[in-house]
Parts: sequence; structure tokens; C-alpha cells
Amino acid sequence: MNIYLLLNWKMNSTLIESAHLVEKYIEFLLDAPELLKVTIFPPAPYIFPLYEKLANTNSVTVGAQNVFEEPFGAYTGEISPIMISEACSYVMVGHSERRTYFNETNSSINKKIHLIMNNSLTPVLCVGEDLDTYNSGQVDEFIELQIKSACDNIKNIPANRFIVAYEPTWAIGSGLTPPPEIINERALLIKNVITDMGLMTDNASCPVLYGGSVNSINAKSFLELDNIAGLLIGQASLDLNQIGSIINQAFRQAKNNSKLI
Ligand code: PGA
Repeated sequence: MNIYLLLNWKMNSTLIESAHLVEKYIEFLLDAPELLKVTIFPPAPYIFPLYEKLANTNSVTVGAQNVFEEPFGAYTGEISPIMISEACSYVMVGHSERRTYFNETNSSINKKIHLIMNNSLTPVLCVGEDLDTYNSGQVDEFIELQIKSACDNIKNIPANRFIVAYEPTWAIGSGLTPPPEIINERALLIKNVITDMGLMTDNASCPVLYGGSVNSINAKSFLELDNIAGLLIGQASLDLNQIGSIINQAFRQAKNNSKLI
């Protein structure tokens, strides 16, 4: 099983700082097993320069934090999946910051996913409950609805060409996380919803990741979970001490996985 580390830089860093971060990631990943998949999600203007910088290595790939839901047109300031498809492998969609600050709805997320897939990119669908929903005990229903509406009319996706990141809104950037066993249960729920929907071809693998306040101390407890195939990391991905240690832990987990194959 692959282990994914998706590094969401959000709206941070200069181009020079970004290039330095990438050089360090490459150093951390020397001799990394094939099964460890690391992808950076830089601010949009850095996608192509960093893609070019990474041309001679296959240890780090590039993703986009967001795209628009239409292929072309009079949409000032927006970016279509076609425009980044040469440089990117993955596109994040439905991140809670986009849902909250930019009023992204499940129906626009669904349009984006169709367009992302039509351009041979792999969507990373972010789902997760807010604190009120967490306290109400209605989390499973909430997540199920998010997945079903985001994936309406989508079926038969090949293995690993769709990723779901479970990111409780209240865990992002807060220093709080659900206990690992709850994360494992939610990941299983997500897998079951995906199976029931027939989203993947022949029930092929759809990696489920965890995101929200991942750091070098708690990363191992999430990486070890049966139903979790990696991490979506925000703040800690910009801190070289933190990310160096997390990459090391994922490295070891991927090596264990290679032995199991
Ligand atoms: P965080 O962000 O690791 O800083 O909590 C995660 C995310 O927003 O994807």
C-alpha cells in the first residue's frame, strides 16, 4: 500500500523560500521507497517554477490547492484544471478553508471533480465535520452526505486515482485532533461509503488520508492506522524540523509496507 504525504502550503512562503523547502524535501527523501508518495501543494504562481525545479527527481510531485469548475471563459482570476494539468498530478478540492471563506458548495465541488478527472488529474476530496456536528454525534451522516454529493454521477475510477482526506474542520490549525481510533473508524466509514457508491472500478483502492494539526509528535499514531494511507499536512510542512521527522516516520512505515508485499 502506498503512503501519501500531501503538503499543503496554503498561501505561504516566497518563491525563494519555496525553492529552498523543495531542495530540503529532496534531501530528506534520498533513498525513499517507491511506495512513499510526496506531493507539494504550493500557491498557484509557484506551480510551474517548482515543477521545473523538480524535473530531475521523481521523489516529489506537484499538486494544486484549488481549480475553477469551468474549463475556460470569462472568470477573472480563476484557474482551470487544463492550465495546470501539465505540471500537476493531484488537485485538492473541497478544503474546509475554501468551503468556509469562499462559500464552496458540494455541488460546485462535484463540478470541479468531474473537470479534474476529465483532465486526467487525481482529485483529493477533503471532507470533515465542524465542532457542532462533532458534538452532536451526527458525524457519519455528515461525512456520508459530503462524499455522496461531491461524487454525484461519478463511477468506475481506477485504483489510486481518487483520494479522500478526512480533515475535521475543528482540527485544522488548532493543535487539536480526534483520537487515532476515531480517525480509523471514520476512515473505514469513508471506505464503506465509497464501496456502496461503486466509485472505484472493482472496488479498487481509494486511499483515505488524515489531516488536521499533524505534527512530528502525533504523525506516527496516524500513520500506523489500518485504514489510513497517509497524511495531509499544513503548518508542519513549512517547518523543516517537523517535516523532516514526519518524512522519516513515513519512510519507515513505507518500508514496512514494502516488506508486506
Ligand atoms: P494543518 O492544516 O496541518 O495546519 O492543521 C491541514 C490542512 O489544512 O490541510
